[in-house]
Amino acid sequence: MKAFVYRRYGGPDVVELADVPKPVPRDNEVLVRILATTVTSGDWRLRTLHVPAGLGLVARLAFGITRPRRPILGTELAGVVEAVGSKVTRFRPGDEVFGFPGGAMGCHAQYRTMPEDGRIARKPANLSFEEAASLPFGASTSLHYLRKAGLEPGDKVLVIGASGCVGSATVQLARHIGAEVTGVTSTRNLALVRSLGAHHVIDYTTDDFTAGGGAFDIVVDTVGGTPFSRFKPVLKERGRVLAVAAGVPEMLASLWAPLAGSRRIIAGPAAERVEDIPEIAALAEAGALQPVIDRRYAFTQIPEAHAYVETGRKRGSVVVSVEHP
Ligand SMILES: NC(=O)c1ccc[n+]([C@@H]2O[C@H](COP(=O)([O-])OP(=O)(O)OC[C@H]3O[C@@H](n4cnc5c(N)ncnc54)[C@H](OP(=O)(O)O)[C@@H]3O)[C@@H](O)[C@H]2O)c1
Repeated sequence: MKAFVYRRYGGPDVVELADVPKPVPRDNEVLVRILATTVTSGDWRLRTLHVPAGLGLVARLAFGITRPRRPILGTELAGVVEAVGSKVTRFRPGDEVFGFPGGAMGCHAQYRTMPEDGRIARKPANLSFEEAASLPFGASTSLHYLRKAGLEPGDKVLVIGASGCVGSATVQLARHIGAEVTGVTSTRNLALVRSLGAHHVIDYTTDDFTAGGGAFDIVVDTVGGTPFSRFKPVLKERGRVLAVAAGVPEMLASLWAPLAGSRRIIAGPAAERVEDIPEIAALAEAGALQPVIDRRYAFTQIPEAHAYVETGRKRGSVVVSVEHP
């Protein structure tokens, strides 16, 4: 089968089209014929090892010290079950599915196997394959953090980076739960963020999110690099900062913040839970979570998709259609 592989860390040109063996499902696995995948912020971070401050060594230990241990990137997929192992009961050939291998990657390929009890579920009937593939990365990250924060109806939530993949899912999910949502974004994305359900928007190119004071229960920071001291004035007593793009400084601050007052920082990698995938499907089917797709690329254009994602300017997701002969 065809796959994009990377054998060293570097720019978009390190991902190359290659012929690799087509995987064979084990007894408990399904073989998915991938029709759509995405290039996410996670893909460019793992390709470049450009990770938040202080996490370089941890990333090398996890993903390969001198070169990548897993050569095929791609965290999300949607497609059709082509074959199933002898013990599989939940899926049959022909089922339309979407899934989230997440950090295990391997979706920039024509086929991938997944355990039937893994992060895979039936594709929401109201979504195309591209739309379904675009959901898990942002929505599962968002669900993880909103759950950790204990978001409740009526809470005031500030989402920094509201037009990105995680931010656009967070605006929608927080609104769905009943929060009053303020999105921070640039001028060109104000209308998008409003259309996702934000009650208020702040244009960071002209306004400072701290200027209006404000009293938020939760600040979701998907951009990173802002010290906790800047968030404190806009946080209520017992308020929480969700440091989605945290490096070591934010992780250390998350340890001492509770000692210095009632406000907290929640940081660290999002858990990749099996239950999230059917939950995301249900939210999408109910219309509570809409796909936000910026650009679409053909499979052979994956290096171009990487280059665009690396600009840090994408809105929502960048999807890739996977062709088969
Ligand atoms: N903790 C975890 O487990 C976890 C999981 C997933 C992702 N992440 C991390 O979370 C971060 C966000 O991921 P993502 O996939 O959402 O990224 P993304 O989609 O690439 O984010 C791009 C968006 O960020 C916006 N942006 C850039 N600078 C901004 C600023 N100063 N203020 C407001 N918006 C700004 C851009 O909008 P404009 O063009 O309008 O600026 C763009 O729409 C990444 O660092 C990623 O590595 C962490």
